[in-house]
Amino acid sequence: MSAPNIETIVSLAKRRGFVYPSSEIYGGLGSAWDYGPMGIELYNNVKQAWWRWMVYERDDIEGLDSSIILNRLVWKYSGHEETFHDWLADCRKCKNRFRADKVGKLVSEKDGKPVFEFGDCPSCGSHDWTEARAFNTMLRTKLGAVADDDPAALAYLRPETAQGIFINFLNVLVTSRRKLPFGIAQIGKSFRNEVTPGNFIFRTREFEQMEMEYFVKPGEDEAAHQEWIDAFHTWFQGIGISSANLRLYEQPKEELAHYAKRTVDIQYRFFPEREDEERQWDELMGIANRTDFDLKTHSKKPEDAEGKRLNPDSTEDLSYFDEQTKQRFYPYVIEPAAGVNRTVLALLMDAYSEKTNDKGETRVILKLHHSMAPIKVAVLPLAKNKPEIVGMAKALKRSLQPVVRAVYDDTGGIGKLYARQDEIGTPFCVTVDHQSLEDEAVTVRDRDTWEQERVKVSDLTVYIKERLTS
Ligand code: GAP
Repeated sequence: MSAPNIETIVSLAKRRGFVYPSSEIYGGLGSAWDYGPMGIELYNNVKQAWWRWMVYERDDIEGLDSSIILNRLVWKYSGHEETFHDWLADCRKCKNRFRADKVGKLVSEKDGKPVFEFGDCPSCGSHDWTEARAFNTMLRTKLGAVADDDPAALAYLRPETAQGIFINFLNVLVTSRRKLPFGIAQIGKSFRNEVTPGNFIFRTREFEQMEMEYFVKPGEDEAAHQEWIDAFHTWFQGIGISSANLRLYEQPKEELAHYAKRTVDIQYRFFPEREDEERQWDELMGIANRTDFDLKTHSKKPEDAEGKRLNPDSTEDLSYFDEQTKQRFYPYVIEPAAGVNRTVLALLMDAYSEKTNDKGETRVILKLHHSMAPIKVAVLPLAKNKPEIVGMAKALKRSLQPVVRAVYDDTGGIGKLYARQDEIGTPFCVTVDHQSLEDEAVTVRDRDTWEQERVKVSDLTVYIKERLTS
């Protein structure tokens, strides 16, 4: 079977309660999506797997949850107020607005501004463009009961979780008594007023990030960077994404963010239907070497060549004192930054498969890694009008639920119930039948092979736990 495209996933996601278009009863809202009963389980599984791996299974990472709205000065000194923008150009004829890099080619720079060579307008075919203008993509809001145009009330919804980590560097360092190297991990919502959102949950204006800032001594940054690139490449495979659909992309110098010395993206084959193989790939996460830019820029100490303080607003110096060498310096930062939503999309695309049953009907099977499956076991009674069978099935579900996410379902014939569980990726279906009442055993059906095995009720919990982790 050829790889599914995003449209196939959109339809499955809606049909089976993974992801719905947001505000649908009012005509929707551009690129906003809501996660349904299955979607939120998958979403939470991604976040929990990341957090467990990052914070619990290592010895050198602390967790954090910082505010979404920060002091505006954070965004001034991080560089976001000045540089976090897309370049836009308008077609003078049809008045449509486009991202300059989508309708033109960057050819040079003049007075610090990019110069684009434009093609014909994709809407009306004319060739009459305005100059490219910067459009800041931070989402604005206002704090307090103030006049609409009071500039003092302006605030931003954070476009990345990272800055909340940098401004808490000293707090975490002091309270956790850490020594370099160590990291601070955070999962949370970020917001960007994207000019061209789209492709389902791939690019939205509200999304969630899993970011970790790893602080190291200058000079140890390059090796640490490579370790994190390799570690994440392996991690994505560990949660079930096939290596054939993952690749590393080294950002060329002209693409690097203003703070980055080197950035490597992990890309996923999000667009397998595109003819040009290069355009099939897009960013799943980025892993950047941010140098000492962030801690320096938020520090009151650093001065320019003339001795002028670069940050007169900060009250702290975010440098680090090395007890061994008796030296004070600004740590370098390695930043693995992943999107929860893009990970969910990659998991759904990678797990999608089709299989034909013995009646010649095509069935969708979501072969999610067991750890990612929203539901681990479905308990299904073979006869829903037989109280003893129903009672036994419900009791089994209750006995499983403290150990794994289990559901009970009797809303259809067994073929339909199996098909429904296959489509949401449930690894095991447990069927209670007439025989079960006599031999205290049930049938366990495997999602991927459709093979069935008879298991004693007394062994069921241990059996399921073992199969889920094997
Ligand atoms: N702190 C660094 C940073 O934010 P980024 O590459 O801009 O880096 C990291 O974002 C990850 O966040 C991306 O790889 C992607 O997975 C996710 N992401 C960024 N913008 C997004 C958007 N508009 N919609 C969905 N996910 C997004």
